[in-house]
Amino acid sequence: MKISKDLEKLIIEQIRNEFESAYIYLGMAAAMGAMSFVGIAEWMRRQAKEEIEHGMKFYDYLVSRGVKVELLPIAQASTDYKTPLNVFEVALNHERKVTGLIHKMYDLAVSLKDYESQNMLNWFIAEQIEEESQTQHFVDRLKFAGDDACTVLHIDREAGNVKS
Ligand code: FEO
Repeated sequence: MKISKDLEKLIIEQIRNEFESAYIYLGMAAAMGAMSFVGIAEWMRRQAKEEIEHGMKFYDYLVSRGVKVELLPIAQASTDYKTPLNVFEVALNHERKVTGLIHKMYDLAVSLKDYESQNMLNWFIAEQIEEESQTQHFVDRLKFAGDDACTVLHIDREAGNVKS
């Protein structure tokens, strides 16, 4: 079955969103690296790579459905972050927004009885649970640490060792 034009359009936009997410995380890595939070910078760099993989999953899916993929422009990313907590709070809000976009595509795939797309999107629904939970973990711990520099540096080390 040919993919619907409406869902094709949303997936093309999502390819752009995933590459834009990579850019956002790279901006966060740049900000944290400049402040010598090397562990968090490393976490953000790994996240940026994962976002490119997500973009490529959507890209490959459209190719497999016979679509000539259009590549939309991606926006400039901020490097203006003041603290590790600021970075993870923005990241968490961003991931929640992405989850909403995935759900919107899934709703459309269900209404179209497009079982192939539902199957593809199931992977992303599971992935978003992990992305939100990992990011929430750092928001919680950094909030708990507050202004305690020693604990924040401990969390930075942890971020460098944790697989994102
Ligand atoms: Fe591609 Fe962080 O979700």
